[in-house]
Amino acid sequence: MESLEPERETRAEIYQLRMADRFDLIRLADYFTDLNRDNGVGGMPLFQPQPRGVVSPSPEKVEKAQRSAETPIGEPGWRRFWLAFEAPTGAIAGHVDLQGWSEPYMDHRVLLGMGVHREHRRRGLGRRLLRFASDWATTETQVEWIDLYVLSGNEAARALYASVGFQVTGSFSDKFRIDGESVDEVRMSKAVLRT
Ligand SMILES: CC(C)(COP(=O)(O)OP(=O)(O)OC[C@H]1O[C@@H](n2cnc3c(N)ncnc32)[C@H](O)[C@@H]1OP(=O)(O)O)[C@@H](O)C(=O)NCCC(=O)NCCS
Repeated sequence: MESLEPERETRAEIYQLRMADRFDLIRLADYFTDLNRDNGVGGMPLFQPQPRGVVSPSPEKVEKAQRSAETPIGEPGWRRFWLAFEAPTGAIAGHVDLQGWSEPYMDHRVLLGMGVHREHRRRGLGRRLLRFASDWATTETQVEWIDLYVLSGNEAARALYASVGFQVTGSFSDKFRIDGESVDEVRMSKAVLRT
C-alpha cells in the first residue's frame, strides 16, 4: 500500500510559517481561547492542565507572553512563538513556542509548547511546526536540549513528539486533579544536534 506521508507533508505545505510579530501576538488570545475549547471534550484528551471550560488565557498571561516575546533571546523570561497561517484565509492554524527556563543554570535548555487548531490536524502541520522550531533552536541559539511536558493521556501529542526524536525522561504521577480526575504528567526531551 502506498504511504500517506508524502500527501500529508504536501498538505502541510499550504501553511505559511513564521515567527510571530507583535501584531500576531494580539491575535493569539483568541486563537488560544478557541484551541482550549477542545481540552478534554469531544473525544479530545486533556492537553492543558486546567479544568474543561476554562478556555481564555488570563490578561496577565497574555501580557506576559507579549513581554517575553520582546525579551532578547537568552535573557531571563525570553520566549518566541511561531505561527502557521492558512494561506487562503490568513487564519492561525497552529503554533509552537520556545522559552527559556526561569531556573538558574538552565540556559542550555528550552521549554517547548505547541498546538494545532482542530480544523487543521492530521495534515503533518504539527510535525512541520516542531521541525521549524527545532531548526531555529539549532541555528539561532546555543541550547543543547529541548524539553516539554505532556499530559499522559494525550496520545496524539506523545506519538508526535516520539516521531521526531523526543524521549520520555520522567513522569509525575497524580500531578494534577482536574475536574475530580487524577492526571499524570510526562516529561520528554530531545538533544539539539549540531555537526
Ligand atoms: C498533538 C497535535 C499538536 C498534533 O498535531 P497534528 O498537526 O495533527 O499532527 P501531525 O499531522 O503532524 O501528525 C504527526 C504524527 O503525530 C501522531 N498523531 C497526530 N495525531 C494523532 C492522533 N489523533 N492519534 C494518534 N497519533 C497522532 C502520529 O504519529 C502522526 O504521524 P502520522 O501522521 O505519520 O501517523 C494536535 O492534535 C493538537 O493540537 N492537539 C491539541 C493540543 C495539544 O495536545 N498540544 C500539545 C500539548 S503537550
